Amino acid sequence: MADNDILAELEELQRASLAELESAQDEPGLQAWRVANMGRSAPVMQVFSRLPQFPKELRPKIGQQANQVKVALEAAFAQKSEEIRQAELARSLQSDRLDITLPGRRPVYGRYSVQTLIMREIYRVFGDMGFQVYRSPDVEEDETNFTLLNIPPHHPARDMQDTFHTTEPGVILRTHTSPGQIRAMREYAPEPIRVMLPGMCYRYEQIDARHEAQFYQVELLAVDKGITFGNLKATLDDFARRMFGSSVQTRLRPDYFPFTEPSAEMDIECFVCGGKGCVVCKNSGWLEILGCGMVHPVVLQNGGYDPREWSGFAAGLGPERVSMLRYRIDDIRNFWSSDVRFLEQF
Ligand code: DAH
Repeated sequence: MADNDILAELEELQRASLAELESAQDEPGLQAWRVANMGRSAPVMQVFSRLPQFPKELRPKIGQQANQVKVALEAAFAQKSEEIRQAELARSLQSDRLDITLPGRRPVYGRYSVQTLIMREIYRVFGDMGFQVYRSPDVEEDETNFTLLNIPPHHPARDMQDTFHTTEPGVILRTHTSPGQIRAMREYAPEPIRVMLPGMCYRYEQIDARHEAQFYQVELLAVDKGITFGNLKATLDDFARRMFGSSVQTRLRPDYFPFTEPSAEMDIECFVCGGKGCVVCKNSGWLEILGCGMVHPVVLQNGGYDPREWSGFAAGLGPERVSMLRYRIDDIRNFWSSDVRFLEQF
């Protein structure tokens, strides 16, 4: 091979290798190029191993030239490596961009349910009036839940409250908090009583926007000598003002409950329309919030008080109802849906 040929070949080799390097896009492409163009079997390396085949006097010139090609390729490789590294860095900075000026994510805190808040408010209001919380069981006897409250077996009033029964005969889930009246009276008789009885109640209801199979009640019971209907009305009016604001209007409507006589229901003036009539109050101007009455003599007797000497009043209210009115919640199922979008609003 003529010396000019090999020098021209080296020149061409350098040109072709550099051109090929230009098209390398990434680290793997770069490495493939390096193996092909600078590895042991790369053409320029072959020239070094072929040196002995050339005439002795030409060897220094060819060797020098091959060396220059090698150095040029190494320099180009180093530069291209750096370019690719920078490009990759820029790309990853772009895609993993972290904006440190953004505010951090707030940790999610647990919170009280609206029911707990309302219950506590009710405890506070009645507590200020001298009523103490008295707990009675969720699993009740039929006897206490109905019979002792003047609702004997087969009495039609039992149909007012569809009942969950257990497999134990005579053992049920309480349908209201009123059986707590019997338990409190039996514990305190013959002393005066002022208690509130909060708790979950259970009914075998068709569930809809206004009916749930479980719901809270707070029962109120006062027993003493000389308690009158006037005391009942004053207590409930005071409660309504403290709960709904001092200007709230109330009214009592006659009603029927087997365990009170006389019985009534208390309405408050609709605070949506101010009594004019709207969808919330169904155009009546009033919202019903609780049932109440004077404790029936039979119930006083069952509790251990002589109705000729003692009298008492009782009331039962639904905290869900209070919350629904206060916060305009239109579906009672929200209370048990565990939907954080609902719970977070309170
Ligand atoms: N226990 C009744 C119910 O769940 C509510 C009630 C009405 C309670 C009148 C009372 C009362 O104490 O006097 O429907």
